[in-house]
Amino acid sequence: MSNLKSGSYDHIILGHYKKVAKNNGLDGRSSIEDQYIRKSELECLSAEIEILQKIHKKELTVLDVGCGNGHTLATVSQRFPGCMFYGLEFSPDLFQLATSRKIPNVEIIHHDCRQEIPFNVNFDLIYTERVIINILNRKDQYIAVDNISKRLSPQGRYLAMESFRESLVELNLARREMCLEDVSPSKHNLFLSEHFANKLERFGLHRIPTAMPFNHMSTHFYVTRVFHKAIRPEGGKVKFSRMAQFFTEALPPAIGNYSPIQFHLFEKR
Ligand SMILES: C[S@@+](CC[C@H](N)C(=O)[O-])C[C@H]1O[C@@H](n2cnc3c(N)ncnc32)[C@H](O)[C@@H]1O
Repeated sequence: MSNLKSGSYDHIILGHYKKVAKNNGLDGRSSIEDQYIRKSELECLSAEIEILQKIHKKELTVLDVGCGNGHTLATVSQRFPGCMFYGLEFSPDLFQLATSRKIPNVEIIHHDCRQEIPFNVNFDLIYTERVIINILNRKDQYIAVDNISKRLSPQGRYLAMESFRESLVELNLARREMCLEDVSPSKHNLFLSEHFANKLERFGLHRIPTAMPFNHMSTHFYVTRVFHKAIRPEGGKVKFSRMAQFFTEALPPAIGNYSPIQFHLFEKR
């Protein structure tokens, strides 16, 4: 295990994920309770891998930065058995869980993405799934993205599945209309701003369209975090009701800008 340098907020992150590892083990609910989000992130990632495979006409090298308990790596490595997958993870507890899976086409290291990424590989695709928001200092967030960019091959792609302030503001405006309290990011998150995404060109990362719309989960967030909360009778199911599931499935996705978690794709040039 590498000797990781610590930052002033690391105890918040490491303490939080120690509990997550203990409570959720290898489960897909580790780090995200809402499984529509997990499913959408997997669909988005799979779509980008398929597109890149067609472009490159070869199997890809893919890196999961902040891979948690390895749930996403386990799923995509099965879906794309010819690709070589790599992961890195800062929490020693989650790192241990991820490596315990012993997945054949996956190599995982214990590493902090604020430090240069030590894999001797130029990646075709690097993704973060709610990870940059765990870096609780804006400068460190840029350092992490710069480290990602440095490990991409020319025309390699960075898929950011991260949370943004602007859409949280939209969600809270919709909640206020229904007399619901604002939701705030948890203490282990520092949401990004659209301004942040626009500044990644300085690292050679140019925004390109994603296969799935950036706001794919917006309808789901409106249904579950506004509509359901507003009409729920006293004693009604608080979360994950059939009613909320019904409307998420019945309505088209990507309506409005109510999902803090967005999908953004960048190409290295
Ligand atoms: C919200 S969790 C998501 C985990 C995983 N991507 C998933 O979807 O289950 C964020 C992850 O980022 C990791 N992380 C936080 N800071 C990190 C850093 N500086 N370097 C690498 N990983 C980090 C956390 O330990 C945690 O596993």
